[in-house]
Amino acid sequence: MDIKLINRENSPKPRRSVLSVPGHIEKMHLKASKSNADVIMLDLEDSVPVESKEEARKRVITSLKEIDWENKTLSVRINGTDTPFAYNDVIEITEEAGSMIDSIVIPKVNDAKDSHFVSLLLDGIEMNKGLKNKIGIELSIETAPGMEKVSEIAHSSARAVSLVFGIADYSASIGARLKSISGHGEKEEEIYPGHRWHYALSRLVMAGKASGLAVIDAPYGNFSDPEGLMKSAGLSAALGCDGKWAIHPSQIDTINEVFSPSEEDVERARKIVEAHAEAQENGLGAVSLEGRMVDRATIRMAEDLLFKAKYLKLI
Ligand code: COA
Ligand code: MG
Repeated sequence: MDIKLINRENSPKPRRSVLSVPGHIEKMHLKASKSNADVIMLDLEDSVPVESKEEARKRVITSLKEIDWENKTLSVRINGTDTPFAYNDVIEITEEAGSMIDSIVIPKVNDAKDSHFVSLLLDGIEMNKGLKNKIGIELSIETAPGMEKVSEIAHSSARAVSLVFGIADYSASIGARLKSISGHGEKEEEIYPGHRWHYALSRLVMAGKASGLAVIDAPYGNFSDPEGLMKSAGLSAALGCDGKWAIHPSQIDTINEVFSPSEEDVERARKIVEAHAEAQENGLGAVSLEGRMVDRATIRMAEDLLFKAKYLKLI
C-alpha cells in the first residue's frame, strides 16, 4: 500500500544532535568532525574566554576551510549582540567561510532586533561575496525578555531555521535555583515535583512550530550521566523538540537514538496508516486498532513519524 505523507517539504534537515565545540580548541574541532553529530556548532561565545575571542574566530575560520567535515551541518555561535564581538563575528566568519556554514546561532536573543541585525548583515555579505548558499539563523532563547517575545522572535526572519533553549542562562535570567554544578538540567526532581522546564520548552515548541522552525533543547551538563541524559532528552522529545545540544562527544549517540523513530515506532505508525486507509474505504472516520482509537489526529502523528524515518533513511 502506498503511504501518502503529509507535506513537510520545508522541514529543516535533521538537527537531532548539535555538538557544541569551543572555537579556540583545535583538537576538539578535529574530534567533532569525526563524530556522529548531525550538526557541529563551533562556539565563539561562552565556552571561549574573553582574551581568546579573536584567536577563536581565526581558528574557526581555518577549521571551517581546512577540516573534512564529512557532509555535516555546520553552524557558528556568535557572541551576543550586546558585546563588542558580535558584528565582527558575523562579518569575519561569513566573509571568510560563509560558503561552509549552514547557519549562525545568535545567543541570548531578547528581541526581534537581534535577528534583524544579523539578517541584514548577512544580506549584504551574501551579495558582496556572491554566496550561493543562504545562511540560516538559529535563535537561542535564554532570557526572560526573549521568552516573553518568543513568538515575535520566531517570526522575525525568513532566515530562521530553529529556536534553541538556553537552560543555564535562562535559569540565571529568571532567578531559578542552581541545583547542580553545570545548571544544565540535573537533579531537577529534587526541587520540583514535575518537569521544571515544561512551560518554557512547550512555549518554545509552540512558537517554533507555528513558524515552521525546528526546536532544539539545551545540553545536559553532567556528561558522565547517560541515564540522566536519556531521561532529559526523552522529556524534550515528548514535548515536541527535534533535538538537543551536546557538550561532549559521549552524549551524541544517546541523543540521536532518542530523537530517531525506533523500529517499534515505525511499525506502529505503519499499522495506524493501514488501519486508517481501511477505515476510509469503509466510510469510517475513527476505527479501533489493538483496543485504541485511531482517527485523523493519530494519522497525522503517524505520517509525521514516517516522514522523519524516511528523511533519516531509517526506512
Ligand atoms: N567537542 C569535541 N571534542 C570534545 C568535546 C567537544 N565538545 N568535549 C570533549 N572533547 C574531546 C576531548 O578533547 C577529548 O579528546 P581526546 O580523547 O582526543 O583527548 C575527549 O573528547 C574526551 O574528553 P574529556 O577528557 O572527557 O573531557 P574534557 O575534560 O577534555 O572536557 C569539557 C570537558 C566539558 C570542558 C568539554 O567537553 C567542553 O569544552 N565541552 C563544550 C563546552 C561548550 O561548548 N559550552 C558551551 C555550550 S553550553
Ligand atoms: Mg547561554
